[in-house]
Amino acid sequence: MARATDALRATRAGIRARLQEVAEKAGAVTSGPPAARAATMREVVAGLDRCLRGHLEWEERTLHPVVDKFACEGPRAFSASMRYEHDIIHRWMAELARRAGDPEDAVGFVRHADRLLGVVLAHFELEEAVFFPILDETAAGHAIGGPLAPALP
Ligand SMILES: [Fe+2]
Repeated sequence: MARATDALRATRAGIRARLQEVAEKAGAVTSGPPAARAATMREVVAGLDRCLRGHLEWEERTLHPVVDKFACEGPRAFSASMRYEHDIIHRWMAELARRAGDPEDAVGFVRHADRLLGVVLAHFELEEAVFFPILDETAAGHAIGGPLAPALP
């Protein structure tokens, strides 16, 4: 039987594949020639932005209200921690973009990119382990994702 979150889980699988590509690019920053580091760092920042910004905004606009509706009463009560983690991710993405302007600190850039990717993957796992099962049990018949989820660029 199809789950309410099947389309969203498929979207997430695509995002994870893109994040792996970004992680590999970040890992290659310091092994490339110094002259190419700034461009590679900017590519990492742009890749993360393409992967995450639209998806996180879609979640905040669409998924979190559904979670709150089905999981408990009260606006934003249940999704508050997820919303806060989005704030952390947005803030750390901005920090990574700032660090991309300093090719002399490629090691610091890669370290920050690794931390950010770890937070994103932990955030996804938490949502998929806690939120999605709640939605699958309570929102049966309400497909979540699919045409509402932003297409990956
Ligand atoms: Fe999220």
